[in-house]
This record gives sequence, C-alpha cells and structure tokens, in this order.
Amino acid sequence: MREHKLYQGKTLAILTGGGDTPALNSSIESIRNRAQLLGYNVYGVRHGWRGLLGDGDVVDLTNQPYDGYYGGTALRSSRTNPFPSKKNPENRVPQILKNFERYKIDVLVSIGGDDTNGAAKRLYETEGIPVIGFPKTIDNDLRTRTIHHYGNLEIEAVMCPGYPSALKGVMEMTQRIKTTAESHSRVMVLEVMGRDAGWLVGGSAYGQADLILIPEYEMDKSRKSFFLEQVKEKYLRSKNKSLIIAVSEGVKWYMDDTEKTDVVYASTELDEYGHPRLGGISGVIASEISNKLGIEARAQSIGYFARSGECRLYDRKLTSTLADKVVDLLLREDYGKMPVLKNMVRYPELEEFNTDSIDMGNIGNQPLPEVYYDIDEFRFNDAYYDFMHHILGDRSFRDFNVDFPTVLAQ
Ligand code: F6P
Repeated sequence: MREHKLYQGKTLAILTGGGDTPALNSSIESIRNRAQLLGYNVYGVRHGWRGLLGDGDVVDLTNQPYDGYYGGTALRSSRTNPFPSKKNPENRVPQILKNFERYKIDVLVSIGGDDTNGAAKRLYETEGIPVIGFPKTIDNDLRTRTIHHYGNLEIEAVMCPGYPSALKGVMEMTQRIKTTAESHSRVMVLEVMGRDAGWLVGGSAYGQADLILIPEYEMDKSRKSFFLEQVKEKYLRSKNKSLIIAVSEGVKWYMDDTEKTDVVYASTELDEYGHPRLGGISGVIASEISNKLGIEARAQSIGYFARSGECRLYDRKLTSTLADKVVDLLLREDYGKMPVLKNMVRYPELEEFNTDSIDMGNIGNQPLPEVYYDIDEFRFNDAYYDFMHHILGDRSFRDFNVDFPTVLAQ
C-alpha cells in the first residue's frame, strides 16, 4: 500500500451514467468533498462514459461551489457503453484508456446502476483501471446485499441512492390522484417506472393504491382474468366507487389479439446496453377495464415525475454515508469495490459504521424478494411496508370521511 496518501494532490474523476436520479448531485458533492479532504484534485467527467471518448469532456470540481440538494446531475448523463454492443459494435475502450493518460486520472468513481458499473467493473478487470463503483438507480434493482431485519427474518434487500426520493415522489403522486379517481368514480391505472423490478411501485401502495402489479409475476391469460374479476369486485365494494391500480412498467400482460404475454414497449429501439424503452401498459389495462367491465377507467403515467426534483433527506444522508465508505476504499487503495449499506435502517440511524463494500464482480440485478409481495391479492405484504417505513416514515391515510344525509323528496 502506498504511504503518505494524504495530501498527495492526486486526481480523482467522477462520472454519472444511465437514467438520472434526484440523488446524483448529492452523491457527486459528498464524494467530491471527502476526496478533497484526502488531497485529491477532483474532476467531473461529463455525459457518462461519453466524456472519456475522443478529446474528452472533463471539468474541474475542486473547490467549486456545489448544490447537492438540486436533483439530477450537473455532470449530465448518457447511456454510452464503452464496450462493443449491438447498437454500436465499435470498441471504444482504447479511447477511454488514452483519456485516463491525457487527463492524468488516478482513480475513477463511476456513479451508476448495473450498466454503468458493469462497464466500470469490466474496465477494472480487463484493463486494471482503478475504479470505485457508487450505486444509484430509482429502480432499486442493483444488488447491494442490504439486510432488512423483519421479525425473525433476514431479508436480502436492496438500497440504492435515488430510490428513496423517487419512492416518495410515487407515494405523493398516488395520494393526489386519489381525489380525482373518487370525484369521477373512476378506476385510475397508474404506471410507475422500475424496468424489470417492482421496488419502486411500492410507493403507490404506500400512497393508498388498492391493487398493485409488479414485473416479477407475469399476467398470463388466467391471471389476467382473475385480476379483472378482482378489479370489478373491489370497485363495487369500494366506498367511493373508485379504485387505484398501480402497475410497474415492466409487467408482462396477456394480449387478446396476439395471444402472447409480453411487456408493452414505448420503443423497441435498443440503447447501447441492449434495453428497449418500456411504457404504455397502463393504457392497455385501462381500456380493457373500460371495455370488458364497463367501468370508466383512465391511465396516468407517473413517469419522470418520480425521477426528477430535489434530493430528499433520506437520500441526502444515504449518499453522505456511502461517500464516507469511499474514503475508506481510497485510503486502502481498495479498487473494484462498491460501497453499500449493510442493514436497512431509518433515517437517523444512517451512519458510516453500517456500510460495507462489495466486490464489483458481484454486482447485478436483483428483483423484489418473494416475501414482499402477495401474488394472490395483488398487494405488498407487511414485510415490504416495514421496509418502506424505514424510508417514508408513518403512513398517512387521507380520506374524505363524511357521509352526508340523503334528502328525500317531499
Ligand atoms: O433505469 C431508470 C429508468 O428510469 C427506468 O425506470 C426506465 O425504464 C428508464 O430509466 C427510462 O429511461 P429513459 O430516460 O431513457 O427514458
């Protein structure tokens, strides 16, 4: 291990890749501040991996003012993949290596999900580039091995910066939509991002959605007809003759015309990591409810509302806590690692001693654990409400609880 690491004035670069989150600027600021204390010059690579191609696009963050509460990423982001892909078969790794030399970058912190950090991991493994991964995704599907203690259970959960703020946004939007659903005695079908995992749509359940569909369980022909029966029954039994259904964008749905069960695509064009764009399932479900059940239904996509806006407090503290662990990794020159939260805790208990680091070779996607969802009732189990309670605090139930007396005509 190199001695006298402190105040050597070395160079650390940070990049953000993939979809933005409300916690990216907070992550950049927290990492930047701590790296500076260790004596690093801190650079920002703009537009993800794209900023290390060609002549490079690099800015100096050292001693600059920074607003970590402002959502999104001031470094900008992209879904650029340095490795050859179907969409772009060119291998751009040599350009990345060249820019490491040209900008004299000693360590790279890549803030990203499975795609961005997967590329960082490959660069570390194949080219020996010193990287530290930093988790982020509103989908919360990047494995962090965070243990959620629930009763006697130790559930392997996930905790990625960006998800707590987005979860709160989804909850708030669902709470709002309820009043419109009730006013028109409608079924509202809310579509929530999350790709192939059902973590994020949990925010809707916290915000009083009645039925939830997650991508981990496909809606084949028989499950779909069972679901539609449930919708009718619940709607008729509901006090206000209204219902909120929350559906994750990646749910596979049986289509009567094609007789196939598949996701609904907003666009089948693939990005450089091979992902198509999902979107539109809420419209399909709403029209089936209207046509088959004769109940007025509307679709509403929560979409980018969840991903945008300011960094909420849980994320602010989570990013600082994980950045503390980055200091540890830098001091040990322990690269190819990603800091993670060890145990699921509430906001006041987010502290550095509760962090660990995992080998980036172990990162990958993690779906919602089975124990969190009730497949027959189309709802989350208490275990997942407990998980979300750590982030969102007590649930507030908002209802208009007045029954006006009926006036009989004389
Ligand atoms: O991975 C984050 C995410 O927001 C997904 O939930 C969603 O499917 C996707 O990104 C949308 O990406 P884009 O910004 O390219 O529309």
